[in-house]
Amino acid sequence: MGRYKIKDLSHYFKQYKKSVKNPVRFWDKIASDHFEWHQRWSNVLDFDMKEARFEWFKDAKLNITINCIDRHLKKKGDQVAIIFEPNNVDEEVQNITYKELYARVAKMANVLTEMGISKGDRVCIYLPMIPELAVSLLACARIGAVHSVVFAGFSSVALSTRINDCDCKLLITADGGFRGSKVIDLKQIADEALKSCPGIKDVLVVKRTHQPVSMTPDRDYWLQPLLDEAAAMHVAEVMDAEDPLFILYTSGSTGKPKGMLHTTAGYMVYMGYTFKNVFAFKKGDIYWCTADIGWITGHSYIVYGPLLNGATTVLFEGIPSYPDHGRFWDVIQKHKVNIFYTAPTAIRALAKESAAYFENRDLSSLKVIGSVGEPINEEAWKWYYENIGRRRCPLVDTWWQTETGGIMISPLAFVTPTKPSHATLPLPGIQPALMDELGNEIHGNLVSGNLCIKFPWPGMARTIYGNHQRYIDTYFSTYPGRYFSGDGALRDETGYYRITGRVDDIVIVSGHNLGTAPLEDLINSHPSVAESAIVGFPHDIKGNALYGFVILKEEAGNSDGDEIRKEINQLISDNIGPIAKLDKIQFVQGLPKTRSGKIMRRILRKIAENELNSLGDTSTLLNPEVVDNIMSNRL
Ligand code: WTA
Repeated sequence: MGRYKIKDLSHYFKQYKKSVKNPVRFWDKIASDHFEWHQRWSNVLDFDMKEARFEWFKDAKLNITINCIDRHLKKKGDQVAIIFEPNNVDEEVQNITYKELYARVAKMANVLTEMGISKGDRVCIYLPMIPELAVSLLACARIGAVHSVVFAGFSSVALSTRINDCDCKLLITADGGFRGSKVIDLKQIADEALKSCPGIKDVLVVKRTHQPVSMTPDRDYWLQPLLDEAAAMHVAEVMDAEDPLFILYTSGSTGKPKGMLHTTAGYMVYMGYTFKNVFAFKKGDIYWCTADIGWITGHSYIVYGPLLNGATTVLFEGIPSYPDHGRFWDVIQKHKVNIFYTAPTAIRALAKESAAYFENRDLSSLKVIGSVGEPINEEAWKWYYENIGRRRCPLVDTWWQTETGGIMISPLAFVTPTKPSHATLPLPGIQPALMDELGNEIHGNLVSGNLCIKFPWPGMARTIYGNHQRYIDTYFSTYPGRYFSGDGALRDETGYYRITGRVDDIVIVSGHNLGTAPLEDLINSHPSVAESAIVGFPHDIKGNALYGFVILKEEAGNSDGDEIRKEINQLISDNIGPIAKLDKIQFVQGLPKTRSGKIMRRILRKIAENELNSLGDTSTLLNPEVVDNIMSNRL
């Protein structure tokens, strides 16, 4: 166990050094000692950073679900694997033991096979946060099908784009989903999406809300009767180390969303190792990550990471404000949660509410608290540390991405001294570098630059599904030979990293990554819009909000501005989802452009941020006069 669990800071430094000096030996040991394999690898790592080709644990054979479930059955069969906490407080909690999880996954795997799904097929999962969601992921992995989960808050257009991009054969959805006091008509949205998804042959429908839905004959099937018929036993498909495990879409700065493809063995090893160490997981701990499984945080740290470690993981269907703003603290008290992992946007929202919501809750079970998804500002960090962690729980601010698969830079609980708003130190095996605009690495401390990773790690994405060139161009060409994260960071006097935020055209709104260019393309498709530019600006709770500068076509001159604003946001809701709506829409006469015709977003960002005195040099603009006009009409 010595190598796997890091005990203290000096052990961390020792392990870190080893992992950099001899990464192959380092990962070889971890993979050998802590996972179950059908066949060992012939080679730990083969790679080419320029071509973005990575092969971890070549020739190894395994099934990740054997590591997540089967191997725990002997000793932990009756231990709870998943605690399902429903949205509605009066609905019963489900405690799913490892044995029951095995049976549910086996049945689901048999149903999928029965529907003609086999190894390599893509299955789209569009479900609310209910046990069937976790079970579906695992069942796909069990039979070697590639799961592609689409967040249940996405619109029908976003769903169909994702289904078609990776050519899914089957869709798993539900009649509806509960979300606070609202009911989401998932099946109806899915039906709309499927009008343009000829590849989908069958749809499995979970009954959740029991609302009436239309079922298309020979395409749509209620899931439960099929599960009832299926055998509760399943022999796992033997997978190759580099066989795809899942695809998960993330926004791009331009064009359509990127289907990040993760493979089997490396992802498994990395999730197992990082979960254990970052959260100092101990046998018997109750762990709760509040993310949605529709995002990478849910994949890696609700499902795979915890289950690989035989943990008890809470799956929460609801939202932090329902039935009131004390819900998170109630759930912690109710299930005696030991490790709690959430997002800064939730923390900021809850910090604004009355202290009565958390003061009289028993949070004494908490041992470790975590944050993920965007930079956590000092105020939120301190509020979380003092009021929820009660100054005794280490707060792990974990930096990572859909692309990295798992946590990259973070304190290790009880090992790394924390510092507000700092993700602190890289995990063993992770070699960060800060780069300047000219492509040189910036050495030393008290510096800032663009955050890159110099050496492969097992959990990294292998490609963008169907477009390897885009993978190379986006991540491996800005700084040849290195992975470029798209984030900026500072390194403080002790070598701690502080992530400052995106340096590209992605804005993180309430923890959701949104590319501004695809949004602009969409807005420009509105009949009254001539051109638009979108930038982010700071928002108290959401972290960032979106500000749109829109030039209307001449013929729209007399139309009602508010009406057009509404239509623009409706367009966004319909095509992407309500999360991407603009907070402010300012109609402008022109946009500041360079002589080569490029929009100067830097200036628009300053205006949106209300930093009118630091616009910088505007004299090189093609049309400096538009800036004054935009400033004076700022919203
Ligand atoms: C941001 C979420 C600062 C960052 C796991 C990154 C963070 C993007 C942190 C990835 C953090 C995530 N501090 N920023 N602790 N964690 N980010 O793909 O900009 O949804 O590039 O993965 O979130 O978002 P994604």
